[in-house]
Amino acid sequence: MNSKLPNTNTSIFAVMSQLANENNAINLSQGFPNFDVSPKLIELVNENMKRGFNQYAPMPGIIKLREIISEKTEKLYNRKYNPETEITITAGATQALYTAITALINEGDEVIVFEPVYDSYLPAIELSGGKPIFLELKGKDYKIDWNEVQKVVTAKTRMLIINSPHNPTGSVLDENDIKQLEKIVTGTNITVLSDEVYEHIIFDGKKHLSVSTSEKLAKCSIIVSSFGKTFHTTGWKIGYCVAPKELMKEFRKVHQFVVYAVNTPLQYAISEYLEDESNYLNISAMYQEKRDYFNKALKNSKFEIIPTSGTYFQLLDYTNLSQLKDTEYAEYLTKEHKVAAIPISAFYHDKIKSKVLRFCFAKDKNTLDSAIEKLLKL
Ligand SMILES: Cc1ncc(COP(=O)(O)O)c(C=O)c1O
Repeated sequence: MNSKLPNTNTSIFAVMSQLANENNAINLSQGFPNFDVSPKLIELVNENMKRGFNQYAPMPGIIKLREIISEKTEKLYNRKYNPETEITITAGATQALYTAITALINEGDEVIVFEPVYDSYLPAIELSGGKPIFLELKGKDYKIDWNEVQKVVTAKTRMLIINSPHNPTGSVLDENDIKQLEKIVTGTNITVLSDEVYEHIIFDGKKHLSVSTSEKLAKCSIIVSSFGKTFHTTGWKIGYCVAPKELMKEFRKVHQFVVYAVNTPLQYAISEYLEDESNYLNISAMYQEKRDYFNKALKNSKFEIIPTSGTYFQLLDYTNLSQLKDTEYAEYLTKEHKVAAIPISAFYHDKIKSKVLRFCFAKDKNTLDSAIEKLLKL
């Protein structure tokens, strides 16, 4: 077999979740909430199935959902996307990211990514014959070094992928980042692929800075979001993508042959659920409470808490606890202390020395309490 992805192994999320199950450990590794979905949303799905919305949706998604996404984007980020030509509903963000990369990257194109990097980007780049150019986020606040970015931009740079709020670090882009990014792309052929799946999970009064807030960036960006993250429905695999018409045209050429269209009753249900903006605007407060609860409890532990400004992940540095590599320490923690987390080296292409694990705090209070009790014993 001549593998097209010779260096790709089973995703660390699947590996750690399986290890957690085998060892009866509390699973704070994979990023999924373990509390209930809104009964109202479930009801809407049922109603729309009973109404008979069970056949193929239009290829780019039902217009009602695209229209309400257009209104939401205009209200939050002051940018109008045409629902007919500039918005597509996707089978989760993963499909949107894969589709965007496949649609735009040709053999030999360079794609700038920042490590730690979400794991789905690289295989998609590789399958398209693209070349990832790796840069590291800097410091304990995991910031982009824009001077470094400028230095690696070449005539071959076709795409730059950003993710804010950022998985796994929880760092967020600020106004200066947006300005620097504008400078980088001006006069180039670079498309920004902006992974904004955690747009509604941002803390401490910070505002999510979508690249769509910038006129310059909006013109050359594909933005991806996920209802799985916003409505704690990761198993529904439904998200969306917005981009200017010319980019969206290319996106849809691929989209139609990857999924053709996305789950119809869910699209109707979500379009109705989005009518009440509190259903997405209150998510940050709910998760901030969980972050604060988790971190306050761990203040007296031997872990160093690395500040997180968004997402439902918390990085903990275990330098004071062990000299093991992060993969070994994650395994040890799962097997011996029954708490599973993700080793951060999984988000780097090369070995790293830092001793940091990622914990998902999107869990009910009982689960968090049990995990906290075990972590405090270390
Ligand atoms: C940064 C990031 N992008 C994309 C995704 C994928 O989202 P979806 O489940 O909608 O495919 C995730 C899921 O964990 C993520 O953390």
